[in-house]
Amino acid sequence: MIKTTLLKATEAGAKELQRFFNGNFKIMNKQGINNPVTEADLAAEKAIFDVIKADFPDHFILSEEAGEIKMDSEYKWIIDPIDGTINFANGIPICCVSIGLEHDGKIVMGAVYNPLMNEFYFAEKGSGATLNDNKITVSKKDKVINSCLVTGFPYTYLDTENGPLQVFEKLIRKGVPVRRLGSAALDLCWLAAGRFDGFYEHKLSPWDSSAGFLIVEEAGGKVTGFKGEAYSVYQPHILATNGLIHDELLGIINGKSL
Ligand code: IPD
Ligand code: CA
Ligand code: CA
Repeated sequence: MIKTTLLKATEAGAKELQRFFNGNFKIMNKQGINNPVTEADLAAEKAIFDVIKADFPDHFILSEEAGEIKMDSEYKWIIDPIDGTINFANGIPICCVSIGLEHDGKIVMGAVYNPLMNEFYFAEKGSGATLNDNKITVSKKDKVINSCLVTGFPYTYLDTENGPLQVFEKLIRKGVPVRRLGSAALDLCWLAAGRFDGFYEHKLSPWDSSAGFLIVEEAGGKVTGFKGEAYSVYQPHILATNGLIHDELLGIINGKSL
């Protein structure tokens, strides 16, 4: 039942992405420069809420635009109605709905759907990860120098030691390809599907990674914070890899040279 609700909610949100994509929609700006929210984000969020609230009215919800709908429940739905809003607003089809389901503090299911590329990623804890119902696994590259990486940059840039630009520069100067897709949820899913070998980002929110994190783990990858500690969606740093390049990339992020 709960899996059916997750799939239904993800599809309902994705329908709104399709409905508005490349059409006319209002764009509002949130805090910071270029941090937009569109009419489509709000419509997708409402469509997702309608499905979840109909099936589980007493579950806790944490969603990017609406914030927290607090309930005394062991279940929490962590929702990004559109991950990749800037892409969406510019007609770039790299964006998705992302929903992670937390039970007793652990993410147990995740769904990420990009209807514009017809790619539906799903994982349930202990049952593997799929893309359009086909099992996916991470890549087998075992050296950073031979890897294809992806990263993202926060809208409000934090100029810290070994910050996003320094790490990026170090990798690029050595000739390592580092892509920037603009959707953390899809970055994680494309890693899970073996397209990328590693993904890191300095400042994410729970809704960006709640589903993708589980999808990577269930595809055989490894996800930690920047100290190599167990990953929590409630802290900003994330390093996700195929497992084989994890320690090497962790060292580079923490100041080692390549
Ligand atoms: C953003 C995307 C982007 C990441 C940003 C996120 P949004 O989410 O995931 O890839 O670099 O940190 O805020 O705003 O498009 O939902
Ligand atoms: Ca996001
Ligand atoms: Ca969003």
